[in-house]
Amino acid sequence: MFVHIGILFVLLQSSYCVERYDGHKVLEILHKAESDFIKILEMELKYKLDFWKLPKHVDDSMKVRVSPEHLEDFLHELEAINADVSTMIENVQDIMDEHQVQSEVPVLHRRASSYSSGWSLNVYYSYSSILNYLTAIAAATLPNNMTATLETLGTSYEGRVVRMIKLSKAGSAANKRKIFIDGGIHAREWVSPATVIYMIEMLAYNPNNNASINTLLNRYDVYLAPLINPDGYQYSGSSYRLWRKNRRNNPQGNCYGVDLNRNFPFQWDPIIGGSNSPCSDLFSGATPGSEPETANIVNYLMANGDLFDAYLTIHSYGQMWLYPWGYTSALPSDHSDLHNAALSGKNAIAAYQGMSYLVGSSTNELYAAAGGSDDFAKGGAGIKYSYTIELRDQGDYGFQLPATLIIPTAKEFFDGFVAFADTMYTHLYGSSGK
Ligand code: ARG
Ligand code: ZN
Repeated sequence: MFVHIGILFVLLQSSYCVERYDGHKVLEILHKAESDFIKILEMELKYKLDFWKLPKHVDDSMKVRVSPEHLEDFLHELEAINADVSTMIENVQDIMDEHQVQSEVPVLHRRASSYSSGWSLNVYYSYSSILNYLTAIAAATLPNNMTATLETLGTSYEGRVVRMIKLSKAGSAANKRKIFIDGGIHAREWVSPATVIYMIEMLAYNPNNNASINTLLNRYDVYLAPLINPDGYQYSGSSYRLWRKNRRNNPQGNCYGVDLNRNFPFQWDPIIGGSNSPCSDLFSGATPGSEPETANIVNYLMANGDLFDAYLTIHSYGQMWLYPWGYTSALPSDHSDLHNAALSGKNAIAAYQGMSYLVGSSTNELYAAAGGSDDFAKGGAGIKYSYTIELRDQGDYGFQLPATLIIPTAKEFFDGFVAFADTMYTHLYGSSGK
């Protein structure tokens, strides 16, 4: 008797190991005093709180997921400190629909046409499918003198390979300056890898022969690593949709995972927006740069950073275009260059469907958090234009953005990216290289 392996897999998944979020709520909480905010942060482990958004200034609200088991006690404590509470999402499980699946695609997908690789851009792919995609693009014959080269950045804690695609247009200037883009550092932010894949596709094929894309590729080589935390992503797809960290088995506390975006070795400090507790979702790691996934990026940028004008790390959600620093409210001396180039991006994003992105330094617009990859890229590797992008949305779906929104999210950001790169290049070198 044959049991279809796919069906078996689905059965096993749904009956045994998939974390469900029935009755989990996302609350919006407005605290009265800074000391109350600290109190709420300190309740993270006791009530298994999951912080979806932290306040960006003293009188801003926070958004927190809480399970039904802890709801009552948590609300009780909030009442005691006189915080205002409203429910943003009634039942998190309700937005875990079929759009939230990571799809597997066979290695040999349908034959690529001359204007695209043939892969669908409106699905969330599994880790192995993303690898297959990168391999396929590197093997494809691309139009417009484009070449795609596959490079390995390293492996993850659980041994998964982390790959990057280098896109370069032959026949334009030799030894062009470079742009680095990564995605998927936080496991649950699925629209991030999907967006980076969209960008690879648009740059590699430029399907409408867009002049601005050609200009960008005449000026820059673009290096894209869509999924730098594969273990977390895989875990988010199979077992625990809202997983954020990597999957290190931490010796103390019997808890898994380090928040890779608190682990980078520049001004690393768990006290600033991170945590020393291995069970926290914001665990900064035992030491700066302790994680293999962090080291993959650090080693690459330390060896090659001087070739790069820009580093962009793609997250979701919140619709923000953020620059350093994340560890302090002080600004880098060239912050107005970073601000102006980001504004070009923001304006191009708005031109598509009117989506509004906030531009500013991450500490001032979001919250202070040390050990981020953007701070490292600028402060450690010396890449001038370093950014964290928070894609759609603004909390309606949050991390569980339906797959139907991948393409509009990615398209508007890609438009923003092309406009950003133009402003950056013109500022650095004048308007040559068209
Ligand atoms: N949401 C991102 C995070 O919490 C923002 C990072 C901004 N950059 C920073 N260096 N804090 O990781
Ligand atoms: Zn993130």
